[in-house]
Amino acid sequence: MIKEAGKIALDYFNRRDELIIETKTDPQDVVSIADQNVERIIRDLTREKFPDDGYLGEEHGQEKGSNDYLWVIDPIDGTACFLTGMYAWCISVALMKGDKIVAGFVYDPNTDELFSALTGNNAHLNGKKIETQNVNSVTQGVMGLGTSHRIPPSQLLPFLDNLLSAGGMFIRNGSCALMMSYVASGRLIGYYEPHINPWDCLAGIILIEEAGGWSSPFLENEGLTQGNPILSSASGVANDLQKMAGLA
Ligand code: IPD
Ligand code: CA
Ligand code: CA
Ligand code: CA
Repeated sequence: MIKEAGKIALDYFNRRDELIIETKTDPQDVVSIADQNVERIIRDLTREKFPDDGYLGEEHGQEKGSNDYLWVIDPIDGTACFLTGMYAWCISVALMKGDKIVAGFVYDPNTDELFSALTGNNAHLNGKKIETQNVNSVTQGVMGLGTSHRIPPSQLLPFLDNLLSAGGMFIRNGSCALMMSYVASGRLIGYYEPHINPWDCLAGIILIEEAGGWSSPFLENEGLTQGNPILSSASGVANDLQKMAGLA
């Protein structure tokens, strides 16, 4: 299902110059028909197999199901990259049962990389087991960072100061889900964003936890409806990063 949606997203990407770009809450928050149609296709394909489940997605909101399964979908995470021809975008799908994330899938159609995790069953990249980095200091790797105009700059800057002062380094590639998948697969040591929505991070959380890492309790305090900060990392740097983010 996610690979099928990935083919359609890639086709839109290859003819992105034809897409009309609309803005949402602020001029940096953009969307196109590609985002809307890819989410529609994921819902339709999933519903064929799981007709009783519920859905929550960035572009088409919430549809209640008749059981306690909820599919949480970001059809294109990294829309700004997608629309400007950069390759850091992906499709992110998580499955919740009640208040627990039970599965997560992040697919990058440009590299044909599928990151997947099921509760209690480890995390995999194209079928091969992945693990978070074996590090005990932020100086030993690179952090992923994200931010948006949903929050004031003052919520990110102290973390950045603390990280750089401790000898750490960061990148921001424009896709939270992809960077969290890179934490799960040991490419990055962690990911921090002061406010994120559930469709951006739920698949990443289960990927990182199943890969041996740690995540902040995103779903507490209305995370599913209002969003929350996310801090996820390899276990060996979790305590230091929590202090840097003011979460400990
Ligand atoms: C955004 C990306 C970005 C993150 C933003 C998100 P979108 O999602 O994940 O990396 O920093 O907070 O809104 O709009 O490209 O799906
Ligand atoms: Ca968006
Ligand atoms: Ca997103
Ligand atoms: Ca999106």
